[in-house]
Amino acid sequence: MPRIISPSFLSADFLHLGDAARMVNESRAEWFHLDVMDGMFVPNISFGLPVVKALRKATDKTLDVHLMIERPERYVADFRAAGADYLTVHVEASTHLHRTIQAIHDAGMRAGVALNPHTPICMIEEIAPIVDMVLIMSVNPGFGGQQFIASSLDKVSRTRDLLLRKRSNALIQVDGGVNAENAAPLFEAGADVLVAGNAVFGAPDPVAAIQQLIEA
Ligand code: DX5
Ligand code: ZN
Repeated sequence: MPRIISPSFLSADFLHLGDAARMVNESRAEWFHLDVMDGMFVPNISFGLPVVKALRKATDKTLDVHLMIERPERYVADFRAAGADYLTVHVEASTHLHRTIQAIHDAGMRAGVALNPHTPICMIEEIAPIVDMVLIMSVNPGFGGQQFIASSLDKVSRTRDLLLRKRSNALIQVDGGVNAENAAPLFEAGADVLVAGNAVFGAPDPVAAIQQLIEA
């Protein structure tokens, strides 16, 4: 199983995004996690296409774009043009999710589907074989620095079972409240990719914090 860390730039210093990108480039993190919020699907507004485009110029690593927006299908082509590699949409935000996943693939990206903490994993039964990643939200989306919802660990195990049963190769990503304490149990439960905002950018030595998560 891969152990990928995707530092969330939502917790970076927005005045110094170039420095944050350089830090992640020099670290063992393989992905950049970019949280796009619209103030509708989630109560917060973060950043959008210009920031994704700017970070594309700052790295060759995988750009992992997490859309927390209503009707994300409207912006698939734009995020591809901005340089996204993975585009993750919320199950709760896209009525014709199968079509949205197809559109993400047709645009040349890998497709992720995210589940809010209240959303049961049965919602992805039918599309599990065609997605590249399932994102288990372990906080209610909208803000960094929240506390990990403990029941998410069991949800990760059940997602792993579902993917095996459906013969899906999708990665499992966990996002929200990830830290040095819960990283090991999450990897053991079947997570492949851990998103970490506060645990990385809030640490005195972010490169060391990333290494600690990988080696948890
Ligand atoms: C929350 C975002 C997360 C957030 C994680 O809505 O999707 O990616 O930045 O931050 P931490 O790791 O601080 O919970
Ligand atoms: Zn996120």
